[in-house]
Amino acid sequence: MIIFMCGIIGFTGNKPVKNILINGLEQLEYRGYDSAGIAVLDENGINIRKRTGKVAQLREAAMDLNEEAYCGIGHTRWATHGGVTNVNAHPHKSGRVVLIHNGIIENYRELITEYGLKNKLVSETDTEVVAALLDTLYSGDPIKTIRKAVDLISGSFALCIMFEDHPGIIYAVRNVSPMVAASFDGSSIIASDITAIIPYTKRYFVVPEYHILTIDKGSIKCEDLNGNTVEPEILEVNWDISSAQKGGYPYFMLKEIYEQPDALDRTVRPRVENGLPYLEEDGISDSLFKGIKNITVIACGTAMHAGMVGKYVFENKLRIPVNVEIASEFRYKDPIIDKDTLTIVLSQSGETIDTLEALRLAKRKGSPVLSIVNVKGSTIARESDYVLYTHAGPEIAVASTKAYTVQIAAMYLIACRFGLVKGIMSEEEAREFISKLENVRTLIEETLKSANTIKMVANRIMISPDVFYIGRGIDYTLSLEASLKLKEISYIHSEAYAAGELKHGTIALISENVPVIAIATEKNVYSKVISNVKEVKSRGAYVVLVSHDDKIDDTSICDMQIRLPEADSTFSVFATAVVLQLIAYYTSDAKGLDVDKPRNLAKSVTVE
Ligand code: G6P
Repeated sequence: MIIFMCGIIGFTGNKPVKNILINGLEQLEYRGYDSAGIAVLDENGINIRKRTGKVAQLREAAMDLNEEAYCGIGHTRWATHGGVTNVNAHPHKSGRVVLIHNGIIENYRELITEYGLKNKLVSETDTEVVAALLDTLYSGDPIKTIRKAVDLISGSFALCIMFEDHPGIIYAVRNVSPMVAASFDGSSIIASDITAIIPYTKRYFVVPEYHILTIDKGSIKCEDLNGNTVEPEILEVNWDISSAQKGGYPYFMLKEIYEQPDALDRTVRPRVENGLPYLEEDGISDSLFKGIKNITVIACGTAMHAGMVGKYVFENKLRIPVNVEIASEFRYKDPIIDKDTLTIVLSQSGETIDTLEALRLAKRKGSPVLSIVNVKGSTIARESDYVLYTHAGPEIAVASTKAYTVQIAAMYLIACRFGLVKGIMSEEEAREFISKLENVRTLIEETLKSANTIKMVANRIMISPDVFYIGRGIDYTLSLEASLKLKEISYIHSEAYAAGELKHGTIALISENVPVIAIATEKNVYSKVISNVKEVKSRGAYVVLVSHDDKIDDTSICDMQIRLPEADSTFSVFATAVVLQLIAYYTSDAKGLDVDKPRNLAKSVTVE
């Protein structure tokens, strides 16, 4: 089966569409970048250009395309199965119908057989089956045809469709896979996320599931499957286009690393009143926490690592048991949760399908769900009982950085309020906690000054086939994230180990010059980590120590040292995270890789 997780855009209006589509695809390229394509529609019919590779290649291929077309759709593809070929790239045309799709059509085989579509297909994709189905069902009435098709297809889909005999109009419908749309100054636009819309307008709406949009120049009609008109709620983006541009940085990832002090301020400060955490304005009242006995955190990837840091604070400071669950595992088990369990869902995009399905399961089990989400109006945000938005602004680099640290900060705010409500933390303790949280900006700014030392570390590890990260307690959770970051963007094999566990097997892999990055910020286990460091050092490892120590000259301990500004380890995590992000960034850059668009990965994972 071919499945997709892609960027989509559609535009109709009073401006030539070709460059609008291609520029939009460039903004969306982080969602998928195996291949890209556009289709434009005018009185003379449909014209398609599609190419494997990056959007730049599509731009070339579309040079000869009509500049006078004012309506079109575009797509950037991320394939998980099947060939990355020009034929498999979107848009797909069948007869009078052309469309783009994000999602998976689960019953495409049945549809081919039942509707005799085989002879209409030229690609290996499930998407083309929908185009063929629509063309087979087409009666001259697009809405009726789409309604029939939607009734027949199962799976997740965001579809933008054009019918050759309806120039100037795009139809759209979705289930699960995200889409947002907007009208402005005689034009209308639809896209898989707001980064493609923001150059034109800040006001948009989230396309409701199983509603059909008729997108015309400057107006969009939204109706349910019974034909009733619906007025979707208009949302407003609180950042502008410059946030989604590189602003002089060579890569988005570096820019996003440097944005962390501001992102943290935006996330924390509005939730502090008289030095105490205050979540009422977010609709999170104290009554939510009162009956809670334990917490389950659900997330994927980097967001899950942020959840692990949160667990550490809940358990150590508040003595509240926290279970951190990988969403893709959680959704297929029979979890032991009920109304006394608070489920905290973490997601930057708010669209990760495994996280969403896990959330739905938690709700069915009666657990109240509080999500920490960066994208306003996203599916996870809308389906949660409570939402605490992080205000990181758009995160474009596939490797998550600022979204991770603001998720940790949001977990800290919740933990602190929780502690106060439960009487586990006194007002004085909570004030001290919050004041330290507000001060992490300074710690990060101080840490960013070590960029040159970090670059030296990166130059050293870029030649290694393997890198190990070790730490204990909260530093172990940071090691997990550091290791993920390094492998995803530098393609160096890397593992994270609880420092004390290394000698139970993995130390066999340590030999001359193997880099080991040791994180030692926790005072109570500091000497234990140093003992573990000596164990690897004596076996020839090249050790980089990340700690609060004054300058260490003892080469029996480390070869390189990255010094963190003095702070309690609970708050040092923000500075440590920055160091580890920069190690990954500079390693990838030194290897000459495309830091923002690592191979095989995508930003928002809307397939399971
Ligand atoms: C993808 C991204 C990761 C992210 C994970 C969860 O794998 O590449 O950076 O941590 O999905 O995404 P979410 O949007 O739910 O935080």
